[in-house]
Amino acid sequence: MERWRGRTVLVTGASAGIGYAIAQTLCRSGMNVIGCARRSEKVQQLAASMKGTSGAGSMTALKCDFYKEEEILAMFEEIEVKFKHVDILVNNAGLGHADDLITGRTDKWKQMLDVNIMALSICTREALRLMRNAGVDDGHVINLNSTAGHSVGSSPVSHFYTGTKHMVTALTKALNSELRQRKSKIRVTSLSPGIVDTEFADVRKAASDQQNEDTKKHLEQFHAYRDSVQPLTSQDIADAVLYIVGVPPHVNIRELTLAPTDQAV
Ligand SMILES: NC(=O)c1ccc[n+]([C@@H]2O[C@H](COP(=O)([O-])OP(=O)(O)OC[C@H]3O[C@@H](n4cnc5c(N)ncnc54)[C@H](OP(=O)(O)O)[C@@H]3O)[C@@H](O)[C@H]2O)c1
Repeated sequence: MERWRGRTVLVTGASAGIGYAIAQTLCRSGMNVIGCARRSEKVQQLAASMKGTSGAGSMTALKCDFYKEEEILAMFEEIEVKFKHVDILVNNAGLGHADDLITGRTDKWKQMLDVNIMALSICTREALRLMRNAGVDDGHVINLNSTAGHSVGSSPVSHFYTGTKHMVTALTKALNSELRQRKSKIRVTSLSPGIVDTEFADVRKAASDQQNEDTKKHLEQFHAYRDSVQPLTSQDIADAVLYIVGVPPHVNIRELTLAPTDQAV
């Protein structure tokens, strides 16, 4: 990790769960962390708690709503002015509404596409632009994928989300391909956790109030299964990020999957 000390990382969705743990862990490792989210006050609180930590880098909170492209572009303008570029981008922000393919709501599908796919792609393009302009060719992009990005489970409540994460798998491979064609040394990793103990499931539950009875039943079954498994912690995922960025520059971890030992395959 020593070579990343003093360099800049943007962690999206740093206000909660996995993103919060990644931001905290990279800051402790000496990186200058920019953490963005709609609830930027939570990142601000994390920044305050990091002050005075021996060997830690800095932490900056930026408010950004990923449903709005203009906010994402404005955030990158601010990053360019204040930091010039980022060296690592962690595309972590994401959500999974319980809207199946037969009865799902269009606006919830669109929200998943906007955050899980469009914002991830816009952030990637903008981060690569800043890296290119600054002559950074050892950067790293990490996409928070999921085990759902590699197989289709039986629960309908996850199916649209599963589609978005399959696209993250494809986009990660495709970006690696584009960068290799350009002879770039920038690395791209898909990090695919199984069940992690975060607010993710609560967000899904809160958005399911208006759902039909069938979906509510599937959701209950899905949560009963989740509750039967000892989940990963957000820190497990943050430790995996340390591993991914810590390997020597000639090693590109294209895919890393971590699942709870108990989770069905
Ligand atoms: N938890 C799991 O079991 C699990 C498993 C596999 C993969 N993942 C993936 O891991 C990533 C993080 O999930 P998590 O479990 O940590 O979820 P979480 O606890 O619900 O946190 C989600 C983060 O995304 C941000 N976000 C959501 N919508 C946003 C928007 N419109 N604009 C800006 N930021 C937004 C949230 O910030 P604000 O609400 O403050 O904006 C929050 O910081 C996601 O990509 C998820 O798909 C999670």
